[in-house]
Amino acid sequence: MPQVFRKSSNVIAKLPLVFGAGLLVVITLVGANITPYTHRVGVALDQPAPFSHKHHVQELGIDCRYCHTGVEKSSFAGIPATETCLTCHSQIWTNSPLLAPIRDSFTSDTPLRWNRVNNVPDFVYFDHSIHIAKGVSCYTCHGRVDEMNLTFKSLAFEMSWCVNCHRNPEEFVRPTDEIFNPEYEPKEEQARVGRALVKEYDIRTEQLADCWVCHR
Ligand code: HEC
Ligand code: HEC
Ligand code: HEC
Ligand code: HEC
Ligand code: HEC
Repeated sequence: MPQVFRKSSNVIAKLPLVFGAGLLVVITLVGANITPYTHRVGVALDQPAPFSHKHHVQELGIDCRYCHTGVEKSSFAGIPATETCLTCHSQIWTNSPLLAPIRDSFTSDTPLRWNRVNNVPDFVYFDHSIHIAKGVSCYTCHGRVDEMNLTFKSLAFEMSWCVNCHRNPEEFVRPTDEIFNPEYEPKEEQARVGRALVKEYDIRTEQLADCWVCHR
């Protein structure tokens, strides 16, 4: 039987396989690099000043909305400006070396560059205000921020996590006047309380898991 293909074409025929395997390795490597970075759960980030939620929220009792002013009104919760810190720290602890970056930021008129702890990719649309209005607590998504010294991410914001609640919000929602209560426990079993709230807050579950809700 005559040889139809030259020997070298064998190599060419195998090339996609080799290339494919190579690509797989590259993807795995990139994946391995990226995944723990974007989903760095439980790891406190270094910040320009050692701000403690435990101190300010749990011990001093400052409301989340004092600093995260946008959270009920807009898509962004927002990070407080240096001036917000100085409403207190121009009077108290004024010589603390831990607060030097705050004073420098003010005198040099340069905002502090806080490192971002939580984020979703750009192609995901997220809005704080609707969640707060419909009975989803900060603590459900961010964990016990009130107990954190340095802030860390409590949950990997994976798509399946968002979608799971969008399909079954009755498992998670609470009365809106309990949103800021870290110790909240439902009075009756969650399934019952949740179902009633879904009705009361008119949560539209039919379309809530559609792609366009979060990718628009
Ligand atoms: C006195 C001001 C202040 C109060 C009160 C406060 N925060 Fe913060 N919060 C900050 C500052 C400053 C940062 C940025 C530094 C950091 O990440 O720790 C921050 C960061 C955060 C982050 C992470 C933001 C990111 O980068 O993803 C979350 C989540 C958060 N706060 C939730 C809360 C919740 C929930 C409450 C109420 C229980 C609260 N905060 C109360 C000042 C405050
Ligand atoms: C409503 C008042 C108030 C606001 C607003 C406030 N703090 Fe404080 N902060 C305090 C008090 C009071 C203490 C001291 C608590 C203690 O140790 O008894 C403190 C302590 C601190 C400390 C520790 C200082 C030390 O030497 O131990 C840091 C750092 C700090 N705050 C950063 C911030 C930052 C950053 C902001 C703005 C995002 C801020 N604070 C906003 C009241 C406030
Ligand atoms: C349904 C889940 C959910 C709830 C409820 C929620 N957050 Fe968030 N939060 C997120 C997500 C997701 C991000 C990242 C958003 C992004 O990357 O655009 C975020 C980001 C933040 C940030 C970073 C700055 C910003 O505006 O994006 C702060 C601060 C914050 N949240 C505070 C709060 C506070 C305070 C509450 C309660 C009043 C709260 N969050 C309730 C999911 C939630
Ligand atoms: C614990 C429950 C819960 C989690 C987790 C959650 N959501 Fe929601 N989400 C809701 C509820 C409840 C509503 C309000 C639905 C309504 O208005 O009827 C909502 C509404 C929204 C809306 C507004 C829909 C509209 O039509 O305006 C967007 C966008 C959204 N969520 C994105 C996200 C993303 C992205 C995540 C994950 C990062 C997420 N959500 C995680 C419960 C949740
Ligand atoms: C409730 C919000 C929500 C809904 C609904 C939703 N997604 Fe996503 N999606 C996300 C979030 C958040 C991410 C980012 C996940 C991450 O960073 O790990 C994501 C990521 C993705 C990605 C990137 C790959 C990945 O898995 O990270 C694709 C593709 C995608 N979504 C497609 C879809 C399609 C198709 C639908 C409809 C069937 C859909 N999404 C519905 C929130 C949502």
